[in-house]
Amino acid sequence: MTALLLAICVAMQKRGAEKETPGKNVKAGKTCKKDMDKLIISGGKRLTGEIPISGAKNAALPILCAGLLTGDSIELQNVPRLHDVTTMLRLLRQMGLQAEQSGEQVILNGNAINKCDAPYDMVKTMRASILVLGPLVARFGEARVSLPGGCAIGSRPVEQHIKGLEAMGAEITIEAGYIHAKAKRLKGTRIVTDMITVTGTENLLMAAVLADGQTVLENAAREPEVTDLANLLVKMGAKIDGIGTDRLVVQGVDKLHGASHAVIPDRIETGTFLCAVAATGGDVTLTKARCDILDAVVDKLCETGAVVTKGADTIRIQMSARPKGVNFRTTEYPGFPTDMQAQFMAVNCVAGESSHITETIFENRFMHVQELNRLGALIKTEGNTAFVKGVDKLVGAPVMATDLRASASLVIAGLAAQGETIVDRVYHLDRGYDRMEMKLAAVGADIRRVK
Ligand code: EPZ
Repeated sequence: MTALLLAICVAMQKRGAEKETPGKNVKAGKTCKKDMDKLIISGGKRLTGEIPISGAKNAALPILCAGLLTGDSIELQNVPRLHDVTTMLRLLRQMGLQAEQSGEQVILNGNAINKCDAPYDMVKTMRASILVLGPLVARFGEARVSLPGGCAIGSRPVEQHIKGLEAMGAEITIEAGYIHAKAKRLKGTRIVTDMITVTGTENLLMAAVLADGQTVLENAAREPEVTDLANLLVKMGAKIDGIGTDRLVVQGVDKLHGASHAVIPDRIETGTFLCAVAATGGDVTLTKARCDILDAVVDKLCETGAVVTKGADTIRIQMSARPKGVNFRTTEYPGFPTDMQAQFMAVNCVAGESSHITETIFENRFMHVQELNRLGALIKTEGNTAFVKGVDKLVGAPVMATDLRASASLVIAGLAAQGETIVDRVYHLDRGYDRMEMKLAAVGADIRRVK
């Protein structure tokens, strides 16, 4: 065979191989890396040992945006190493905010901010980008932020953020998918949001701290991550009363100064690992944790038959029998968190009894149901309620993650299932969990990441 013919055959063979490579629009010779990561789990192993908890994603994200509020430096510790944190730092840096990250420490400095824009191509990958809106208008009197758009779990509008800023005197227009906000200086006022909104409360709180006069935020979110942000703002010189309650009273100041702050531990990561043990059986102690901010989840885990022991900064869970099925409905803090719904459903899938779960926060947060059913679960949904019939065993299979907490739920189910589970599109998981597979492998799980 002539060399030319041979070369043509090799090229054809290579092309053929490229065609089969999974992942969207794979260019010749290039693979879209993030689509390729998968987790391979061989289930049925008891989990025993210790897992350190990382800083809270949903506290770190608004706290990074607080760096826009001052020209001084802010020193942050316990910042989790997550994809969403990387995305937020990239968004803030392109505005001119200086950010030095080493391990879990981040040092911010906002004295050279030269742009008040959050472009669509960054906002579309992370809705929390909306959190730059309040601080930019508060300190610079203007902002141009892309509308975040919906996501897998719901339409997730932001009209409460906009309504609150308009009430404080901002002129806001929405055109070509962008929010344009302008204000000489925001003016304190009383704001009652139509519903409890976590990032809405955080945006309006960061706007109020530099406004002229007093702002009262009624119907405020009481999530611990809102409290963590408020505690940092007070360290920066803000005047906030009612922290931790649904009524925040803010006395605006002219300037905020630098501060140092450690992000609180992630209660959702904590709850996720507790559910993993409840579903697989074992004896695991979570360290660097906070025990007082996930009572609703701990109470429900005790109902499954787990034994939970709280220490100063540790939570131990022992599970020696099959979990009992537990009914719950998600509500705002301090109720059962919507971010734990998918993970706890995985526990109910292998329970001895049937159970039902009602999701009251988001309109479409059951994307994990059909994937769990692929593993042999018996779940039916009617509106915002899922009816789970516990099965003796789940059987491993290839499944696909659709959103952050759904992927955590599939990992938990894979750990409990017999045989091999392959979780695809693991980039969803990496948005909100710091090296989850390494933490699980350290307590005996047979789990590995393949590129
Ligand atoms: C925060 O999202 C969290 N994200 C979410 O965590 C969490 O699920 C959610 O709060 C509820 O606890 C961050 O903190 C970065 P909301 P947020 O505004 O603030 C409706 C995760 O997995 N609403 O409290 O966007 C909204 O559609 C993520 O870590 C409006 O209608 O949620 C939802 O139904 C997922 N208009 C409900 O309120 C608005 O203007 C609660 O949303 C604002 C919200």
